[in-house]
Amino acid sequence: MTIKKTDYPVHNLIASRWSSRALSGEQITEQELLPLFEAARFAPSSYNGQPWRFLYALSTDPEWPLFFNLLVPFNQEWVKNAGALILILSRCAFESNGKPSRTHSFDTGAAWMSLSLEGVSKGYIVHGMEGFDYNKAKETFAIPDDYQIEAMAAIGKPGSKELLSKSLQEKEVPSPRKPLKDIVFRGSWHKI
Ligand SMILES: Cc1cc2nc3c(=O)[nH]c(=O)nc-3n(C[C@H](O)[C@H](O)[C@H](O)COP(=O)(O)O)c2cc1C
Repeated sequence: MTIKKTDYPVHNLIASRWSSRALSGEQITEQELLPLFEAARFAPSSYNGQPWRFLYALSTDPEWPLFFNLLVPFNQEWVKNAGALILILSRCAFESNGKPSRTHSFDTGAAWMSLSLEGVSKGYIVHGMEGFDYNKAKETFAIPDDYQIEAMAAIGKPGSKELLSKSLQEKEVPSPRKPLKDIVFRGSWHKI
């Protein structure tokens, strides 16, 4: 397990999460996956609107190609060894009163992160993606206009880096981060 070096101490789960592409090709069962969605279900949301929606296929499902074929070739190269693919959507208006939600994407991002951390805690790689055809996804799954397609995620069991092409192997390192001083401002904009 890779533990990232952080400037301040954080929980191991946060420090060990990163978007590896070295997946083993092993299958994932529905029973293994459902706790990840359960974690997403318990995310916070404005007015408890719970705007997140998840469409998924296991690599053994007949629908797998529908998901897989949405991906750009770069992603297909490593996602072929994933056990599950998820399409993450959010409802743009509240179900309770039909009013537009300002935070549907924010809420759904929180749900995705819960899902991701639950996955990491169970030893899975959970890798978000925007490298796919959003229009095709909308069409393929007949997504209604009041839902926004947010992202996809690949879930898999960790595998050997040698299963990846040379260029992808070189990317198998956690990404750097901006320093805290560039993203956190005490009291006023751009001052810390
Ligand atoms: C919404 C979203 C979309 C992303 N799209 C892709 C993608 O299409 N392909 C890919 O290989 N990685 C993708 N990533 C992974 C990011 O590049 C990665 O999260 C970022 O570099 C930070 O690295 P870390 O997750 O390892 O900490 C995506 C991540 C997120 C959250």
